[in-house]
Amino acid sequence: MCGIIGCITRGKNVVPTLIEGLRRMEYRGYDSAGVAVLRGGALLSRKTIGKVEELSRVLDDDPIEGAIGIAHTRWATHGEPSTMNAHPHLDSTGKLAIVHNGIVENYRVLRRSLEEEGHVFTTETDTEVFAHLIEKYYTGDLGDAVRLALAEVHGAYGIAVIHADQPELLVAARNGSPLIVGIDKDAYYVASDAAALVRHTKDVVYLDDMEMVMATPEGFSTTTLENELVTKHVERITWDIGQIEKNGYPHFMLKEIHEQERTVMDAVRGRLLESSGDAFLGGLRDHRKTLTDAKRIIIIACGTSWHAGLVGEYMLEDLARVSTEVEYASEFRYRNPVIRRGDVAFVMSQSGETRDTLAAMGEAQRRGAVALGIVNVVGSSIARRSDGGVYTHAGLEIGVASTKAFTSQLMVLAAIALMVGRSRSISVIEGREIVRAMLAIPQQIHRIVEKNAEIERIASRYVESSNFLYLGRGYNFPVALEGALKLKEISYIHAEGYPAAEMKHGPIALIDEKMPVVFIATQDAYYEKILSNMEEVKARGGRVLAIATEGDTQVARMADDVIEIPKTLPHLTPILSVIPLQLLAYYIAVARGCHVDQPRNLAKSVTVE
Ligand code: G6P
Repeated sequence: MCGIIGCITRGKNVVPTLIEGLRRMEYRGYDSAGVAVLRGGALLSRKTIGKVEELSRVLDDDPIEGAIGIAHTRWATHGEPSTMNAHPHLDSTGKLAIVHNGIVENYRVLRRSLEEEGHVFTTETDTEVFAHLIEKYYTGDLGDAVRLALAEVHGAYGIAVIHADQPELLVAARNGSPLIVGIDKDAYYVASDAAALVRHTKDVVYLDDMEMVMATPEGFSTTTLENELVTKHVERITWDIGQIEKNGYPHFMLKEIHEQERTVMDAVRGRLLESSGDAFLGGLRDHRKTLTDAKRIIIIACGTSWHAGLVGEYMLEDLARVSTEVEYASEFRYRNPVIRRGDVAFVMSQSGETRDTLAAMGEAQRRGAVALGIVNVVGSSIARRSDGGVYTHAGLEIGVASTKAFTSQLMVLAAIALMVGRSRSISVIEGREIVRAMLAIPQQIHRIVEKNAEIERIASRYVESSNFLYLGRGYNFPVALEGALKLKEISYIHAEGYPAAEMKHGPIALIDEKMPVVFIATQDAYYEKILSNMEEVKARGGRVLAIATEGDTQVARMADDVIEIPKTLPHLTPILSVIPLQLLAYYIAVARGCHVDQPRNLAKSVTVE
């Protein structure tokens, strides 16, 4: 959720680097921000409520400088967003500063006992206990003090710590929250996310849980929290700075929507076999037989990834004839699920760090399931702890509302369903038809995003609505859920997604002329039925906006507004039908003056429960 960064150099001022790094991680949290540096034996800190921009203004008015520093952008968990609760947090001596991403679960107990020992707390955060606990153990060696303090902490953390008495030492540690070390010619960094570092270096080391790093201007060492040395490999980030720029688009979300014509292909590049009508997924090579023999597939995810999972369920049952279930990670991990021999879990996550999804994966593995990741962020926790899996290669997604990661997940799921299907139920001829249809998707997406201006015009007619209903059937039911989620997330309009036939079991009571109903009414097996549902809405005075197959005159006659999409195979339709809904939500949110890339209360990577 929060973003942390630390930097140590040989004499260069780190503040601009820290602020730039925070900007790159702002999607992780943006309710308050702060920075601390060491200079001339003193610790200097600036904090503020609001976004990183605000912190930058504070620093313009009241600058600080130092060759070592830490910084933080916050998504509040304990204690309201305020300048007081913003990180860095200091100890009682004012010499030690810490930034933290995660949650200290036993902070109440720790705080009480530290208060009994005379420590005075000044914030409402769980993080402040770290500062006082490290202070308690500090006798001149910051590394030792951090190690001793962490032995008492339960919970998730990525932390970075500095101390005025050791101005040439940056200490950082992780357990359950991501942390990477960046290596430059004349500087070392720690950060929650590679995006914060890529401008300076592409050489990184991924820390694992229960590991820490100690960096000086001359080098760094990595150890376990038990102080055993660990040798880490330096890995190279494969994407570049262009991915973290808006490249002329007003928002990252719009840029990422447009990128989809390329990213869907990146998801399956080199993975589709045209002549044999099959798919080859390197990360599943050792699991093909397990998948072919699977009795049941369980897809575990949260949020938009969960919606992709629902489409995956339909695909796997339809094409591969494997019984498939989709689980909310947060429910799965706590509800004593039944796992049988032959069950395979696909764990799907854009970030690869969502805490519930990661924990659910652990639970599935503990109960004996093979856990395979479908993950976007390379080197993320789910990718590293799964038994195998597939990267979606959508590139860095910065807009908090997920768009391109979703369509890439669908492409990968389609490739998996094809691969498993070819071993079980699909013929070469059918396989080839699927591959051909998948290869045509980028061009079809291009035709949809070209309707940008038309969708913006349509969106302008719905800006004043305060409720929306999204209806779809079959493969388009999860798209209805995803369309409604996009609108909720970024425009704050209440929207519900429903299977169209369920409308008459409740939501139909809501329909009047003020309630727009978005129908995803493409020409598939449910077409006639969804037309009937549309009639039912029209008969009650509802306004209909339909996503329809190109050239469909019936839908055009019935709906108030229509956005057409090209025809593809039924199981690939969601990859196309979701795109006008992403654009619709985007333009409605922009017209309402909402902060599209950083919607209120949300965070891109949810590393707390
Ligand atoms: C957050 C994000 C959503 C995302 C969900 C799951 O809620 O705001 O956009 O779908 O987490 O994230 P994941 O990284 O696991 O796909």
